[in-house]
Amino acid sequence: MKHIIITGGAGFIGSHLVRHFVLKYPNYWIHNVDKLTYAGNLANLKDIENAPNYTFHKLDICDAPAIEFLFEKYFVEGVIHLAAESHVDRSILEPLAFVHTNVVGTTTLLNAARKYWKDRKDVLFYHVSTDEVYGSLGPEGFFTEETPYNPRSPYSASKASSDHFVRAYFHTYGLPVVISNCSNNYGPYQFPEKLIPLMICNIIQNKPLPVYGKGENVRDWLWVLDHCQAIDLIFHYGRVGETYNIGGNNEWRNIDLVYLLCNLMDEALGRPKGSSASLIQFVTDRPGHDLRYAIDATKLRNELGWKPTVSFEEGLSKTITWYLENKEWVEEVVSGEYQQYYEKQYQKRIQPNF
Ligand code: NAD
Ligand code: DAU
Repeated sequence: MKHIIITGGAGFIGSHLVRHFVLKYPNYWIHNVDKLTYAGNLANLKDIENAPNYTFHKLDICDAPAIEFLFEKYFVEGVIHLAAESHVDRSILEPLAFVHTNVVGTTTLLNAARKYWKDRKDVLFYHVSTDEVYGSLGPEGFFTEETPYNPRSPYSASKASSDHFVRAYFHTYGLPVVISNCSNNYGPYQFPEKLIPLMICNIIQNKPLPVYGKGENVRDWLWVLDHCQAIDLIFHYGRVGETYNIGGNNEWRNIDLVYLLCNLMDEALGRPKGSSASLIQFVTDRPGHDLRYAIDATKLRNELGWKPTVSFEEGLSKTITWYLENKEWVEEVVSGEYQQYYEKQYQKRIQPNF
């Protein structure tokens, strides 16, 4: 059996990816390495927790001895690295936590891989990264793999730095690596601090829907399992040392997306048309808020034949149904410190001098 580490496998994208690999590849033994921060939840993987080719390891990726022990014990031959602090708003409040996990943690994993793989070429370190490393677009154009890095938030600066370390280990030590930079994902199991699940959950509870600034910022949305399929293809067939952009070709202004969600939620909840939209509240903008992200995924399509398969209409409908049917999951993940954190941030955002 081939032993593969997936880091951050208890988070949103990671849990979908772990399930995908465990079920599709019985000849792979998947080791899910996750610290279980507020964003990690083993309930995401309840259905596969007893699979014979799956093991969970509660570990911090910054813990070098523990990571090295895993490589040694299992003869690990692949790493798909997703563990990260992932929320831009939190990075503005607490940048060092992002440097610690995203930069130091990634480099700790690279060191372990280099130490145990030595000069092997039949192994792979795959770094799952973000389109935010490219900065912000104006109304026109797309990010390609050649777009210069221009990160503008502490989150994107930490992800850009980790991308640079991954490339540095390829060029300096010959470590076989690959990187992908993806646009905004959505789907089940996303922590409800992110736009789509936050709006769905607040609508269910009749709470205000905070839209930053004028809601004119644009994001390119991708169904999370289409991202997982792209990762699968790149892991198996991507060219070593290369970067692949992944995107949904599905741009939405935040305010248009929030109105769409309001209409879909009115229908789903049997509420009068317009009732959810009445909860919309324009609040103080995110500092340094990137205006627009849009991905050109031509390279991935031409080289590996990938394209998104789930329409936004279908994906949003599935997402809404999932959140309506999994209120206990939502209650569990937002219980404790998160609720206080959210209320405090929301109160600050409605202050005129925030
Ligand atoms: P998430 O916040 O839902 O999950 C992150 C996971 O990492 C959690 O399970 C958490 O417990 C774990 N983790 C955090 N710090 C850790 C540490 N020090 N050691 C071990 N585990 C730790 O994130 P996500 O949205 O699923 O994103 C996963 C990856 O994909 C991230 O690297 C992110 O930058 C990237 N990405 C996300 C998106 C998106 O739209 N969500 C888009 C492009 C790229
Ligand atoms: O582009 C990929 C990135 O997408 C990933 O790398 C990040 O991990 C992921 O969190 C996401 O970053 P964004 O900052 O784009 O996602 P978020 O859901 O936080 O915000 C989406 C947009 O909605 C953004 O323009 C800010 C806005 N927003 C967000 C929240 C939470 C609001 O207007 N109100 C809100 O309450």
